[in-house]
Amino acid sequence: MPDLLDLADVTAGYGATMVLRHVSLGVGAGEIVALLGRNGVGKTTLLRTAAGFVQPRSGGVRLDGQALAGIAPYRIARRALCYVAQEQALFADLTVGENLRLGVSHDRLFRERLPSIEPHFPVLLRRLGQKAGTLSGGEQKMLLISRAILARPRLMLVDEISEGLQPSVVDRLAGVLAAERRMHGTAMLLVEQNVAFALSVADRFAVLTSGEVVERGGTGDAGAAARIERHMTV
Ligand SMILES: Nc1ncnc2c1ncn2[C@@H]1O[C@H](COP(=O)(O)OP(=O)(O)O)[C@@H](O)[C@H]1O
Ligand SMILES: [Mg+2]
Repeated sequence: MPDLLDLADVTAGYGATMVLRHVSLGVGAGEIVALLGRNGVGKTTLLRTAAGFVQPRSGGVRLDGQALAGIAPYRIARRALCYVAQEQALFADLTVGENLRLGVSHDRLFRERLPSIEPHFPVLLRRLGQKAGTLSGGEQKMLLISRAILARPRLMLVDEISEGLQPSVVDRLAGVLAAERRMHGTAMLLVEQNVAFALSVADRFAVLTSGEVVERGGTGDAGAAARIERHMTV
């Protein structure tokens, strides 16, 4: 069976500058893969390429076996992919509830699924009427992931969701992501710099350094953390 998401020998970048070089990476249905790497190595560019915002210069991306070349990002998103971006992904002037509502296509689904957020992040349900821009950084991250959970995609592309969060919230997040996969079979590509968090949630990992995958393996492999950490220090 082909991978749900399959990047094959992808070279991509901006203008004449290539940020990714011959990157191959797959995520199977229901699988969680962590992509680790320092700042500026091309992690976000890889997610943007998978979501169709950046077109590969060479190589290709397939979703569910179908090539994405030339397909608009909104059409790709409709095929059950949810991109949880690193920056400016919330509408600060809309309420928590309004931001969440954008995760689903109609009100009935929203009413049905909203209660599923309660056990994960009760604080959000108490603040449905508050402007998203007035939430703390950690609460905004909770809102972002909750909106993706409401969409119930087959694949989530998640960009540094643990960044800037206190350890207890990172632990909670790990539990939430694991529960989503268990209950709905959600596949995830998690871009991370938090190695412990990534290893606790993912099945496999890949490490990116300046646009190339230099390490990969199973998160349960002996020495996995050390193999990753070597590439994370400046
Ligand atoms: N829109 C853009 N135009 C030009 N260069 C960009 C753009 N976005 C990112 N880059 C460059 O691409 C490289 C990788 O960036 P990025 O994918 O954001 O890395 P990471 O997410 O790993 O920090 C960086 O050198 C960055 O400056
Ligand atoms: Mg990034």
